[in-house]
Amino acid sequence: MTQNSRPRETWSSRFGVILAVTGSAVGLGNFLRFPGLAAKYEGGAFMIPYFIAFFLLGLPMAWVEWSIGRYGGARGFNSAAGIYRSIWKNRLSPYFGALAMLVPVGIYMYYVVIEGWCLAYAWYMASGQLNFGATGSEQYGNFFSQFTGLASDGANYSLSSAPAVIFIAICFVLNFVLIYRGLTKGIEWFCKWAMPALVICALIVLGRVLTLDHITSGLGFMWNPRTESMSFWKAMADGNMWLDAAGQIFFSLSVGFGIIINYASYVGRNDDIALSALTSAAGNEFCEVGLGGMISIPASFIFMGTAAVAGTFSLGFVVLPQVFATMPLGQIVGTLFFFLLFLAALTSSLSMLQPAIALMEEGLNLNRKTSVAVLGFITVLGAAFVLYFSKDLLALDTFDFWVGTFCIYVLSVFQIVLFGWFLGIKRGYEEIQRGAEIRVPPIWMFIIKYISPLYLLGVFAFWIYQQVITPRGANRFAQIIDNSVVMASVGFLILVGILFCAFVAQSVRHWKKQESSGQQHLDVGDFGGL
Ligand code: PFF
Repeated sequence: MTQNSRPRETWSSRFGVILAVTGSAVGLGNFLRFPGLAAKYEGGAFMIPYFIAFFLLGLPMAWVEWSIGRYGGARGFNSAAGIYRSIWKNRLSPYFGALAMLVPVGIYMYYVVIEGWCLAYAWYMASGQLNFGATGSEQYGNFFSQFTGLASDGANYSLSSAPAVIFIAICFVLNFVLIYRGLTKGIEWFCKWAMPALVICALIVLGRVLTLDHITSGLGFMWNPRTESMSFWKAMADGNMWLDAAGQIFFSLSVGFGIIINYASYVGRNDDIALSALTSAAGNEFCEVGLGGMISIPASFIFMGTAAVAGTFSLGFVVLPQVFATMPLGQIVGTLFFFLLFLAALTSSLSMLQPAIALMEEGLNLNRKTSVAVLGFITVLGAAFVLYFSKDLLALDTFDFWVGTFCIYVLSVFQIVLFGWFLGIKRGYEEIQRGAEIRVPPIWMFIIKYISPLYLLGVFAFWIYQQVITPRGANRFAQIIDNSVVMASVGFLILVGILFCAFVAQSVRHWKKQESSGQQHLDVGDFGGL
């Protein structure tokens, strides 16, 4: 079957696509990563670079991706490679599409592991197996360490800690079943009930947290820009905080790596995207700041004091279970909390798979079953790799850094330049406004063309500088040479990247053949005529 004879997939409703994009955005980043970062950088102070990054990077990038995606979709493409090529006819451009597959798929390989932990913790909470009482702080740590195989490589493959693997396998199967069912019957259907369900769970948990005694001190700890440790201005001068804030905005909104491009390519060519983009970005912020920021840190602070300010994982999987064990109604609240984490993670991980499936279907001409099988094979290998090298979660951390942070910066710069300079601001703005239900203030076009790329490059340059002055042990580049697990992890990702480049090369050959035989993708004419 050629691409043209394949019926074009579309979302069944506008509400459906907004929920799917919001579902991709709302995830572990909102409920674990954000509170961890906000607490690390003194809450209130962190919100300044955070919201600046939202307005100068996150929101513009969301509009860019929605419009590039719909533009490409109208030309018959759903994969980032095809869409980039339809905008910038250059030999290089589709290969950025390989990066737009590598980032989500690479993230999936470790995200699904954490998703499995969440499901497991919901189960252990519900069945009371995670209740060591208020004084068993060490036991909570030991439980997590044993459960995740933190102590040694290969621990996850021994029978005694097999439970983690079972829960992760359940998540794996769920993801692939839903992806196999397709856009509307899988992703859209699931998000339509999972998103309201997770918000209801979060509101119940929030209700319990806000009615705890002394909650104001917990909220104060989370949100006041404190001055005990340093002055407000000194806190603002911390470049790492700006870097982390920008990274969090990308990761949390699911922008910068081609997910929204793919989702928006299934939108009708005259359907609104301006308001849809804003709605899903606002929905994510509500869940992140309004829900995520109000639950874990304030609750942990009340029961555990400043000791609660721990890394993302220890906050979620060591401190919180203990807090729930101490709190009245804690078992129910804790179960709901981990279940909502699991739902949030699942709606996000689904979105990581769809872009690669889209390329295999339209570029390699594989049917759904084969695409799902190929991607299943690649991601099982990746997740098995992450699970094996579990000592200190080093493989997970390496994947998270190189694909979940570094590659996102590279791809974001490419996408924003593609829109601002290759599609062109004038045509781009027309695309955003076609069918729009709100008028995007034109100032954002100036931001997209100049401010966002400069901001991104500035943050990136600062990061490189930080690496250069960082001592060898903690330097990300040096670690690749010095540590064999880091080297193997980066090597694994490079191999997957090469494979995706080969997929893209084959797809380009396929598209060229179609084009030379006069078989155009959907012929929609040029912008001027639309
Ligand atoms: N936005 C998700 C979160 O906040 O947890 C994470 C995410 C989703 C990352 C989709 C990457 C991705 F492709």
